[in-house]
Amino acid sequence: RAAPVIAIDGPSASGKGTVAARVAAALGFSYLDSGALYRLTALAAKRANVAWDDEAAVAAIAGGLDVVFTESDICLAGVPVGDAIRSEEISAGASKVAALPAVREALLFRQRAFGKAPGLVGDGRDMGSVIFPQASLKVFLTASAEARAERRYKQLIEKGFSANLPDLLSDLQQRDARDSQRSVAPLRQEADAQMLETTHLTIEQAVKQVLDWYAEAT
Ligand code: C5P
Repeated sequence: RAAPVIAIDGPSASGKGTVAARVAAALGFSYLDSGALYRLTALAAKRANVAWDDEAAVAAIAGGLDVVFTESDICLAGVPVGDAIRSEEISAGASKVAALPAVREALLFRQRAFGKAPGLVGDGRDMGSVIFPQASLKVFLTASAEARAERRYKQLIEKGFSANLPDLLSDLQQRDARDSQRSVAPLRQEADAQMLETTHLTIEQAVKQVLDWYAEAT
């Protein structure tokens, strides 16, 4: 039998990464931050002076990424990337390279390889639709654009970045539109996914809901 997978998909800054990591910790599963792979691809392309719309060149970079996920960070070519993949610039670049089919193809098997015993919680846009269609539980985790922009604002300020709420909101809305309207693996709720609307939920409540659904599903 294949290892169990919990697929958590949803828009940018919905809190799905935090929820997914906590669910994974609670179950003793590993955690895949699939968005980080698109972010790393955008960063590596930028460092190599490759334009984000040069599909073949960016796909080659994605296929050759030397990435190691550690407990505390992600290492690209042996060097911890820290917050370099979390800037607004790289967020926008990630969403651009993620719209290129050859890039998604280049990252497909790397993502599936995370699906090992005892289990995996994966978060992204297409965990339940493309990467792990056989997932034991699929969750579509969302929140209003305003709530997501505010969460992102707080995160950035806490990390010592400067931030502007109206700009964050419009960036998020642009990324949502690009992620939902692209032709390959668009962001949308799968028919067999549970909807988790977190605008008025705490992280703990969202984690508990996912764990309850998982217990029911298995
Ligand atoms: O989840 P996160 O915001 O880190 O993802 C960054 C970008 O990567 C998203 O805007 C989206 O375009 C892309 N992405 C994707 N498929 C995934 C995960 C992320 O297209 N499974």
